[in-house]
Amino acid sequence: MATDRRSFLKLSSLAGIGLLSGKVHANSTLKSQDRTALEHILKEAERPYKPVFNMSGYAAPALDIVRTAFVGVGNRGAAAVERMSRIQGVDIKAICDVQPEKASAAKARIKSSGHEATLYTKDEESWKELCRREDIDLVYIATHWAMHAEIAIYAMEHGKHVALEIPAATSVEDCWRLVMTSEKTKKHCVILENCCYDFFELLTLNLARQGFFGDIVHTEGAYIHDILNSFFQEEKRYDFWRLRENAERNGNLYPTHGLGPICQVLKVNRGNKMDFMTSMSSDDFMLNPKAKAMAQEDARFGSFVNKPFRGNMNVSNIKTASGSTITLQHDVSTPRPYSRIHMISGTKAFAQKYPLPGKIAIGDNDFMDEESLRKLEEQYQPKIIKHIGELAKDIGGHGGMDFMMDWRLIDCLRNGLPVDMDVYDAAAWSVIGPLSEWSVANGSKPIKIPDFTMGRWKENKVHDIDLAHGATTEVIKV
Ligand SMILES: NC(=O)c1ccc[n+]([C@@H]2O[C@H](COP(=O)([O-])OP(=O)(O)OC[C@H]3O[C@@H](n4cnc5c(N)ncnc54)[C@H](O)[C@@H]3O)[C@@H](O)[C@H]2O)c1
Repeated sequence: MATDRRSFLKLSSLAGIGLLSGKVHANSTLKSQDRTALEHILKEAERPYKPVFNMSGYAAPALDIVRTAFVGVGNRGAAAVERMSRIQGVDIKAICDVQPEKASAAKARIKSSGHEATLYTKDEESWKELCRREDIDLVYIATHWAMHAEIAIYAMEHGKHVALEIPAATSVEDCWRLVMTSEKTKKHCVILENCCYDFFELLTLNLARQGFFGDIVHTEGAYIHDILNSFFQEEKRYDFWRLRENAERNGNLYPTHGLGPICQVLKVNRGNKMDFMTSMSSDDFMLNPKAKAMAQEDARFGSFVNKPFRGNMNVSNIKTASGSTITLQHDVSTPRPYSRIHMISGTKAFAQKYPLPGKIAIGDNDFMDEESLRKLEEQYQPKIIKHIGELAKDIGGHGGMDFMMDWRLIDCLRNGLPVDMDVYDAAAWSVIGPLSEWSVANGSKPIKIPDFTMGRWKENKVHDIDLAHGATTEVIKV
């Protein structure tokens, strides 16, 4: 801790600012209200915590049947209900949504028999009633971002494991509350970062573990996806929640798709940690013009005109304790092809997934040809892909990765195994959101990234991608 603080002091003085005293020389163009909020982010990022119990590698008692409840079954949550109903040992006990028709529609997507699936739709707090039930083991949360942490903490306090959609939380303090609640209750808090189960990502993770890349020098990840029009479509998101987020916060609001797989490659929280970051946003060229155009057609969008929309492209740079760097990009509003980049540059080899297809190179010549890549895949594909990959592709969900993620979560719970993506991952990957906001608002100044493992990253072990244990859960045919 003392060393951390010393190096941060050095960092702060290099940057020429009094970060530790909390006296941030905020950008003079900021409104005073913004300045207060941003100082709050810095203060929370510096707050010290003491460990209670290490959830990394923790194996909770095995559950033969995982009695599961869902909260928030809009576009994403309803698809999860369907996928989970294809997994042996899942008993869907309850479905909650503030929109009753969404809850009913999700229930109708259940593909196997024997699920009671009681609906909870009375009001905005009906999920609390569900969490208080004694006969539920897992609460699967897919509401809008602002509610993730609140529901997860309440559920863990009521004795449930939780799985929550991305990002796990939107503030530094909520990231810490997730960690401390998981440690105190010994309940798993799993972040549902499906991209960690995509095929090329798993291949490169195994390659990294086998030393194929040598030392990893630099990595890049992203969430670049033009979903601008959908921000203004009522059926796409409850109460335009994503438009509201983009109208009020400026930074990388959705870091985990790009960051999760990269952090696994770099062993973050398990032998490595993210140390500090800087972040820069472009101006907004897309969102306010779109809001203005939409307001002409629909008066509901009038209140969005001239909001402080987030800059369309955010670029964050992160330095890890191992000396590697991560560049993370985020753009959801300019017309360009989808990309999560997923680039790994090591002392011996290089990989990059986007633009598709994924490519690998050894040395500075061309990328490997198709045949060599196929042979490499055969040799290095982790066992989880060999075991469930083809079935997952059939069932679908972003090409199979969604199903692989759900299957692995349930198989770990049923066999009493540690989960792949624990509360420290949930917190570390999600905290980049609020920290990037602070850096953007303060002229891209560096900010220390909290170590949610509280020093235990040095001993924590990497998660199992070779199914050394478990793999006993069947997929239900329909
Ligand atoms: N991992 C992925 O690939 C992926 C893809 C899409 C969305 N997501 C995540 O999934 C989550 C949901 O996104 P979405 O696109 O399905 O949004 P959505 O608006 O379609 O769904 C959110 C649901 O939450 C419900 N809800 C709101 N308040 C509630 C309350 N108080 N109690 C119960 N239910 C409530 C809404 O009625 C709605 O049905 C987000 O966190 C998003 O980031 C992840």
